Amino acid sequence: MKKIYLDHNATTPLRREVLAAMEEIYQNVTGNPSSVHFFGREARRRLEAGRKQVAETIGARPEEIVFTGGGTEADNLAVQGVAYASRSKGDHIITSAIEHPAVLAACRFLEKEGFSVTYLPVSREGLVSPSQLEEAIRPETILISVMTANNETGVIQPVAEIGEIARSRKVPFHTDAIQGLGKIPLSVEEMGVDLMSLSGHKVYGPQGVGALYIRKGIRVRPLTYGGHHERSKRPGTENLAGIVGFGEASRLARENLESEADRLRMLRDRLCSEISDRIPRVKMNGAPGLRLPNTLNLSFEYVEGEGILLGLEEKGVAAATGSACTSGELAPSHVLSAMEVEAALAQGSVRFSLGRENTLEDILYTVDVLVPVVKRLREMSPFYDPDNDTQGD
Ligand SMILES: Cc1ncc(COP(=O)(O)O)c(C=O)c1O
Repeated sequence: MKKIYLDHNATTPLRREVLAAMEEIYQNVTGNPSSVHFFGREARRRLEAGRKQVAETIGARPEEIVFTGGGTEADNLAVQGVAYASRSKGDHIITSAIEHPAVLAACRFLEKEGFSVTYLPVSREGLVSPSQLEEAIRPETILISVMTANNETGVIQPVAEIGEIARSRKVPFHTDAIQGLGKIPLSVEEMGVDLMSLSGHKVYGPQGVGALYIRKGIRVRPLTYGGHHERSKRPGTENLAGIVGFGEASRLARENLESEADRLRMLRDRLCSEISDRIPRVKMNGAPGLRLPNTLNLSFEYVEGEGILLGLEEKGVAAATGSACTSGELAPSHVLSAMEVEAALAQGSVRFSLGRENTLEDILYTVDVLVPVVKRLREMSPFYDPDNDTQGD
């Protein structure tokens, strides 16, 4: 059976070139980057080359990059690290209701530790309001954390505007740019950010390696203690092959960013228009013109997202749903809830996230198998009345 992967916001397949770069390290580089002998120096040279590639991708200086064990750790290092380092200055953090759990759960933990957190609401289109953010700033605000682009809807936030506000009010600004990397241009200067989280496996690099950009002068307390690796911000022998792979993946992502974004946008929009033409009562979630080029989040009325996913899977198509199955209960996505998407529609949401290996044929096949899946599920719904359907609603 044909297998089509439309879940690139969850993780991406490792690029061949990345695997080759990593294999080369495993085969030829045996030293510890902290050792002073020849083997160690060679490992250090490779590590720093990887750092340079990641730094260049976001317009940063290599010495401002700290490698971590993934995106979740980078988010935690940013949020907890700045909070604890700035505790004497204040105890208030501003974030948004649609952040990834890596930021939200870190903030909830900090609340238990005595910090206070403002969770900014978003519009129905999924956007944070810069003016609301500005109003939330207090004299004791020590950190603003707003993501670059949302993983569920793909909505791109007004990060540069927020950066300007943060700078004028002298509050450090962190952005989780994990979904933005490789999909839209990222520049720490243009975006006005002081800290930026990145992750290898969202950009055709390896899993378990990430990075935090920390602007020179921003104080961050480490999460763990040990040796002097990564400027003592992240002690422990570095994941050299992972870092080299991440560096190579970042470099490759820069190479054809615009043409690949255009190609994906075209495929994504075709997927959307084919679905809306052939399936009634479908609603798109997220600001139409302000989304990552690869992401499409749709709600299908009268059906559950899980049911659609199972039906698609039977035909070899892998997508995702925003709702998380927690303790046997289907909780609607916190992102769609924050956008005030009705609970029933949030339950019926499916995220399609496209990537490098997808073709127009994949998209057309997906629609062909989706149409009967939705039809069959709706026929089982006691609320569904086909006579009320308007095509392409
Ligand atoms: C926006 C966002 N932040 C953080 C993460 C966590 O990254 P990692 O899987 O590398 O820990 C993800 C991955 O799902 C993400 O999409």
